Amino acid sequence: MNRPNLWIALDVPTEAEAERLIAQFQPHRQFKVGLELFTGVGPHGVRRWVDRGLQIFLDLKLHDIPTTVGRALTQIKQLGAALTTVHASGGSAMLEEAHNMGETAVVAVTLLTSMGDDDLTRLGWGSSAPMLVSRLTSLAQSNGLSGVVTSAAEVEHVKQLWPDARIVVPGLRWGDRDADDHAHVLDPYHAWRLGATDLVIGRSLTEASDPGQAYHTLLTHFKENADAVGS
Ligand code: C5P
Repeated sequence: MNRPNLWIALDVPTEAEAERLIAQFQPHRQFKVGLELFTGVGPHGVRRWVDRGLQIFLDLKLHDIPTTVGRALTQIKQLGAALTTVHASGGSAMLEEAHNMGETAVVAVTLLTSMGDDDLTRLGWGSSAPMLVSRLTSLAQSNGLSGVVTSAAEVEHVKQLWPDARIVVPGLRWGDRDADDHAHVLDPYHAWRLGATDLVIGRSLTEASDPGQAYHTLLTHFKENADAVGS
């Protein structure tokens, strides 16, 4: 099994704060830029990091008419982002615009982890969350995307549905950090064993009292678990 990509979420508003985080995790090269930081640094900020040799997961969760999404994705590709996101619920025509982006892999968000059963009912999406995740995963697969973003609770199920998908999993916790706003959490090593190819890790590292030390603890957690099961 290939080791997973490990995207450290730069959930801060400014370039200066992002640079401070990047420096704390040297020599790590994979970072996630979401809406907050992208709005702060703009495409030029992203380009500067790519030009410095960082791999950027530009997590903009696009959801618009197909032409607009297609054009935005072309811009993201030109920035050299390694990975980006669209909402699977944008439908087939929108997802079709998202495949074949060359070096930029596009994965689809199935269901936001903040959505509860109550929200699904109110939206008239009636089904259970697992059923909806299955449908949205099939939609992403049949429209040629690289994979999906899914919660810790669904990773095993998605792996069964689509074995060679990129499966991006947030909501990872280890040690004594609590779940914060995630309904489901999993430790990073087990998420990988269940099928995650890409792990998104934010506050457990970025808000640790010593982020550099927390990063090394995470790498040790991987190594010790891998040694224990001989992988
Ligand atoms: O590890 P932490 O809880 O801080 O992770 C937060 C990060 O995970 C944020 O960058 C958020 O955008 C991302 N996330 C995601 N998809 C979800 C839930 C969170 O990409 N469904």
